[in-house]
Order: sequence, then C-alpha cells, then structure tokens
Amino acid sequence: MASDTLLIFVLMMSSVRLGKSAEALFNLKCQSAVGVIGQTTNISCSIESQTGSIDINTVVLTRFRENKPCFTFQPYENRVTGDSRFKVESLPSLQLHNTSISDEGGYKYYIRTNLGHVNAEFRINVTAVYSPPIITSEPTEIKDGGAADLYCRASGGYPAGTIHWFDQRNTNWTQNAALQITQGHDGLFTLSSKLSFRSIDSTWGPFRCVVLNYRYEEEEESTTHLRREANSDSVSSTQVVMGTVGGIVFLIALVLFVLLLKRRCLEQNSPRNPDGVEEETALYKVVHKKAADEDQNTAV
Ligand SMILES: *[C@@H]1O[C@H](CO)[C@@H](O)[C@H](O)[C@H]1NC(C)=O
Ligand SMILES: *[C@@H]1O[C@H](CO)[C@@H](O)[C@H](O)[C@H]1NC(C)=O
Ligand SMILES: *[C@@H]1O[C@H](CO)[C@@H](O)[C@H](O)[C@H]1NC(C)=O
Ligand SMILES: *[C@@H]1O[C@H](CO)[C@@H](O)[C@H](O)[C@H]1NC(C)=O
Repeated sequence: MASDTLLIFVLMMSSVRLGKSAEALFNLKCQSAVGVIGQTTNISCSIESQTGSIDINTVVLTRFRENKPCFTFQPYENRVTGDSRFKVESLPSLQLHNTSISDEGGYKYYIRTNLGHVNAEFRINVTAVYSPPIITSEPTEIKDGGAADLYCRASGGYPAGTIHWFDQRNTNWTQNAALQITQGHDGLFTLSSKLSFRSIDSTWGPFRCVVLNYRYEEEEESTTHLRREANSDSVSSTQVVMGTVGGIVFLIALVLFVLLLKRRCLEQNSPRNPDGVEEETALYKVVHKKAADEDQNTAV
C-alpha cells in the first residue's frame, strides 16, 4: 500500500518535473537592440530547444500599446504584412532597415511553431550622433578685459546629450555656461551652450567645446581660437613678435659687444698685468678640477 502511494507520488513528481523541463527546453529570447537612425538595426533572437528541429510557421511583431501587428511573416507562404522595413534574415532574428526615432520602444514577439507557440519581449533604443559643434562668439572680435559670450552648437543628435567647456589649460568652465536643449520636428536634438565672461582674456583660449552623448561619452569636439579686436590685436601681436625678435637681436649684439670689450681689455692689460690671465687660468683649472671630481663621484 505504502509503496504504491510512494510510486504514484514519485511518478507525479517526475511528471511535474518533466512538464517544467519541457517548458524550459523551448523558449524564445531576444536581446534589446540599440539602433542608429537611418541604419539597419539587428534584432537578435533565438529559440532555445533541445527537442530537435523546430519549424516556424508564423512570426508576429506587435508594438507595446498597439493591437495591430507592425510586422508578420509566414515562411511557408513567404507572406509578409506590415512595415516593409522589417526583414527576415535568419529566423527568429529580425532586421529593421532605415531605423527612425519613432521605432523606439517595446515590442512583443510571437512565434508559432510545430511544437506550439512562444513569446518574447524586447526593446529598441535609437541613437543619432551629433554633428561636430560650431563655436561662435559675441562680439566676433574679443576685446581683452571686455565682456564676451562664446556659443557652441551641435545638432542632429539623439537622445539629448550635453556640452562641456575647457580652456587651453584644461580648466573646466562648464559651470559658467548655460545649456539649452531643443527638439526638432524630426525628434532630433540641438544642444546650444552659452559660456559668458564678464571680463575675458584672449590668452585663456583656445577654448574647447566637447559634446557628450546621453551616456556622457565624448562624441565630438571643436576648438576655437579667439579673434581679438583687429586694431589692438594685429598691432599688439606684431609688436610682441617684433619685440621678441628685436630683444633677441639686441641681446646677441650686447653679448658680442661685451666679449669684444673684454678681449680688448685683456689685450691692453696683458703686457702690464699678466696676473689677470693667470687668474683666469686658475679659475678655469678650479672649475675643471671640480668637474673632474664630480665625474669621479658619479663613477663611484
Ligand atoms: C547586422 O547583421 C548583419 C548580418 O547578420 C551584419 O552584417 C551587420 O554588421 C550587423 N549590423 C550591426 C550593426 O551589428
Ligand atoms: C528612411 O526613412 C526616412 C523617413 O524616416 C525617409 O525620408 C527616407 O527616404 C528613408 N530612406 C530610405 C533609404 O529608405
Ligand atoms: C534603452 O532605453 C531605456 C530607457 O530609455 C533604458 O532603460 C535601457 O537601458 C536602454 N537599453 C539599452 C540596451 O541601451
Ligand atoms: C566639468 O564640469 C561639469 C559641470 O560642473 C561636470 O559635470 C563635468 O564632470 C566636469 N568635467 C570634467 C572632465 O571635469
């Protein structure tokens, strides 16, 4: 009696386990996809099965919150309905050609097979890369010590990103900037950042405007060389250049003159006072000895 009950119990348990594993042997899995606008998005799905070959009769793709499928496919009849941008390359995986922002969202995927039907859900996220940013300034020609605004603008990106500012020493100026994000009719974002200075110094430049995507990854950057006000700028910069070159020429001339003078002095002094030469030679010897000592030290 007892053994019969035990047998029935064991059978029940094993059938439960069998049922469970049959379910586990046959399921559909899809990875969420991240597509790029205008490009092909791969939707990678797989049917996990250990029961041999599976024949797919029908696939049906429906967006969340919609009843009508956006895509259906029946391999045997080679019948396709819905959005023609969906393509079947190797079932159950799909491809979405010419991805657009409106494709973003959740999808329900239903597949009917010879072994029964399976369901899966996945998400398509869409991204678009921002254009290289363009930097402008107001006024166009910067006056040292004057107020100035730098503008940086990048468009055509998705999702919304941000803009950071750095100067030539890599100092972060972002806190002094105001970011404006606008979304166009096409759903793409434009980022405009305004960096304001009450008193600017053109030597702080060039300034770097860095565009970061929604994951705070650097996407694009531009560098601006500040244009200083024409009359002060061109003159002062040429003056600086002239000054530097002139200074160097003057220094060389001075050194040559001093050397010449010294030589003349020595020539004049030598017959009357050869000690001067002696002194110099002695100094040379000391320096020489010191150098030699140092050599020895390093050798030790
Ligand atoms: C999508 O899949 C196709 C072929 O399966 C491959 O050639 C292509 O590189 C894939 N694209 C991406 C973005 O992974
Ligand atoms: C891609 O889709 C856009 C609309 O989203 C359309 O204007 C464009 O012509 C399409 N491109 C191709 C190659 O089908
Ligand atoms: C897709 O976007 C959602 C929210 O916008 C986010 O939670 C999810 O992690 C993204 N998935 C991928 C694969 O990037
Ligand atoms: C620059 O400053 C911004 C805002 O203060 C901050 O979010 C960002 O992480 C900083 N970037 C670097 C590289 O320090």
